[in-house]
Amino acid sequence: MKSPQHLFPDNFWWGSATSATQAEGAANEGGKGQNIWDFWHSQEPQKFHNQIGPREASAFYHNYKDDIALMKSLGHNSFRTSISWSRLIPEGTGDVNPEAVVFYRDMIDELKKNDIEPIINLFHFDLPMALVEKGGWESRETVKAYADYAEKCFELFGDQVNYWFTQNEPIVPVEAGYMNVYHWPCVVDFRRAAQVAYHFVLANACAIKRYRDLNLPGKIGIILNLSPTYPRSDSPEDVQAAHLADLFNTRSFLDPVTKGKYPEELVALLKEHDQLPVFEYADLDIIKANTIDVLGFNYYQPRRIKAKENFHPEEAPFTPGKFYDYYAMPGRKMNEHRGWEIYEKGVYDTLIDLRDNYDNIEVYISENGMGVEGEMTFADDSGVIQDDYRIEFIQDHLEWIHKAATEGCNVRGYHLWTFIDCWSWLNSYKNRYGLVSLDLETQSRTIKKSGHWFRSVAMNNGF
Ligand code: BG6
Repeated sequence: MKSPQHLFPDNFWWGSATSATQAEGAANEGGKGQNIWDFWHSQEPQKFHNQIGPREASAFYHNYKDDIALMKSLGHNSFRTSISWSRLIPEGTGDVNPEAVVFYRDMIDELKKNDIEPIINLFHFDLPMALVEKGGWESRETVKAYADYAEKCFELFGDQVNYWFTQNEPIVPVEAGYMNVYHWPCVVDFRRAAQVAYHFVLANACAIKRYRDLNLPGKIGIILNLSPTYPRSDSPEDVQAAHLADLFNTRSFLDPVTKGKYPEELVALLKEHDQLPVFEYADLDIIKANTIDVLGFNYYQPRRIKAKENFHPEEAPFTPGKFYDYYAMPGRKMNEHRGWEIYEKGVYDTLIDLRDNYDNIEVYISENGMGVEGEMTFADDSGVIQDDYRIEFIQDHLEWIHKAATEGCNVRGYHLWTFIDCWSWLNSYKNRYGLVSLDLETQSRTIKKSGHWFRSVAMNNGF
């Protein structure tokens, strides 16, 4: 057989990612407690596309055996999902739900039986409601509760799991829940947002400390959504605006989790504007001593920035948007269904940045993908979705990832978002991302054209 033109490094991870709340369903079964999504949907279902809530996610809780067999048939050698905190510890702290332990142990075991590396994340936007009532991520009590929960997971499943991730995209609940109204608790207040962001960073370090104290043999990391920041032009004003946007949106998480320390410039800026979160000096030692082994890098879109043009009055509440404006590049390629720019080279630029400025840390592409609305219109007579656009999307990104690998970037895998079309936060089932389509009525699964294509890429370790 001809060897692939784009051959990836040995033991490269091929697979896909999902999260507990988006895939499990069974939100009120098996002793699970309520999380923010269960709660919010029960209060305001009209906020969710077609009023569909997490209870109707793709039923992985019941179907995991068949789904894992399907994953195997699509060439997966690895798969990422999360543990639902509110399923394992329904009140957020205290008693463990034994039914959840059985489910997660069996599910992880099933992956291993199929030679699929289980990659387990601990927090994917789904805070137990009982903790929200005590202040949520604004409270240090949640940091402590989270570290206890993490330790419980390491004790219960540490013999089965070699790769742990503490959190998925922690900046998203910060931006969506404390600077916008897309995640509960829907408040807009930068100081509170900064407190939450800080607590995520501290919680990450505390979980890593608990993990290392147990002397388990695996690796632990965090998953960040990283977007390379491009200035509109090379004018000093645009360049400075992009620099600040990068500081707030990327380095605010990437630096403390990899280097153990916040960028001084960011701290000085927050101090100057009286926006520093409340912290204890001892926290800084914990953050310093507990950096990640491995980074998950979710890549969807670039960040394009120009110097401030829209007026931001001095007396207006503080927001990082005071320093820069977003910029829509003329002629950009778009995924109109999601409103996100498609810029494949962005993945390469970030991998090079990680190589050159972050000690070439071990990294894998933990999410990349294309959500499309109304995909059934692309189905052929037998109901198979002919998603050539997704194949092109994946292949174009893989070409850049391959180039980065050949240039010495320590990139170890590629996971598509997602395996089977899954429920998404406010969009529920509007945009479909899967290699496998889901019929919501019958719960039947059909492999898309991209699923067959992905299998051949994974089996050949390239294309
Ligand atoms: C990532 C998240 O940001 O993007 C996923 O980790 C999410 O949870 C995915 O589903 C796609 O975004 P969306 O909002 O279109 O579902």
